[in-house]
Amino acid sequence: MVKRVFSGVQPSGVLTIGNYLGAIRNFVKLQHEADCIFCVVDLHALTVPQDPKELHDATLDVARLFVACGIDPERATIFVQSHVAAHAELSWLLECNSYFGELRRMTQFKDKSAKNEVVTAGLFTYPVLMAADILLYQTDQVPVGEDQKQHLELARDIAIRVNSRFGQTFKVPEPYIPPRSAGGRIMSLVNPEEKMSKSSDDPKSYIALLDPPDVVRKKIRSAVTDSGREVKYDEVNKAAISNLLVIYSLCSGQPIEEIEKKYGDSGYGQFKKDLAEIIIETLEPIQKRFEELCKPGVIEEILQRGRDRVEALAAPTLEDFRRKLGLVQR
Ligand code: TYM
Repeated sequence: MVKRVFSGVQPSGVLTIGNYLGAIRNFVKLQHEADCIFCVVDLHALTVPQDPKELHDATLDVARLFVACGIDPERATIFVQSHVAAHAELSWLLECNSYFGELRRMTQFKDKSAKNEVVTAGLFTYPVLMAADILLYQTDQVPVGEDQKQHLELARDIAIRVNSRFGQTFKVPEPYIPPRSAGGRIMSLVNPEEKMSKSSDDPKSYIALLDPPDVVRKKIRSAVTDSGREVKYDEVNKAAISNLLVIYSLCSGQPIEEIEKKYGDSGYGQFKKDLAEIIIETLEPIQKRFEELCKPGVIEEILQRGRDRVEALAAPTLEDFRRKLGLVQR
């Protein structure tokens, strides 16, 4: 049987090259070997305050970027989370099988609740909704960046718990997380100790997939570097250069060692100049395709088809769990 792959991306800003290299690039690869479902998780974005118009537009833009990055809607299924009510319903049923203590331990909740003035109940139960997204489709594999590892472990724990209480109900999903040297954690361009994030207040910290060439050049020119002048991969002592090397390697397809040899200790100037051009070349076809997908009705039609397909897939799993819990059939 073909594997089922599921992943989601929040419409909480313009997607970055971190999202692309850590996750979406692998979505594109996996669509050739598995039954893939990719979701724009708008309900997750609501866990922090959003401007309604921005959320609306970003939801459509993330779906367009999925396709622009190479996800083929004839091969993989793309849909919007809030269009399929089963996600919110299963999330509630799973919340009643999750513990306050395990949610309190989630590091992303600790970080986000420390940063945000408003801490919603939704921010706290966010990982359970993510578990619902995954478990609803009997998912085998979940391609994500390193930052989602703990959430995935929780999804596995919940699946194992439900299965042992109620009998086999959910498949226990496996993570698909690239190592750091292969994009699992792309770091901020202004602080290499922090991950690159689309919701950052400082646009200089990330390259957005829709950044025009001049903006890319400027951001790479001002990206922080480490002391010394050697272009060398060393996560501990050269975090900033290591991050730029990973981006260079993944965008160009050249192994890190080759790039190290090419620049050696000739300083960071030429390396950064070339890196900017390599990123621009990577983004150019994505941006072109994105524009075509902005024609009215194009992405809406893809999302409608996606919704129709996944609603039918989700129904039997949800009904089975409802019955096991003792809820009267509807
Ligand atoms: P989100 O929207 O923050 O990020 C989308 C994907 O991009 C990865 N990513 C990164 N990878 C490498 N380096 C980075 N700097 C970087 N920043 C982000 C993320 O790991 C993710 O794979 N909770 C999820 C969305 C979600 C989900 C799901 C994922 C909801 N339901 C079900 C998988 C399955 C999130 O906020 O991702």
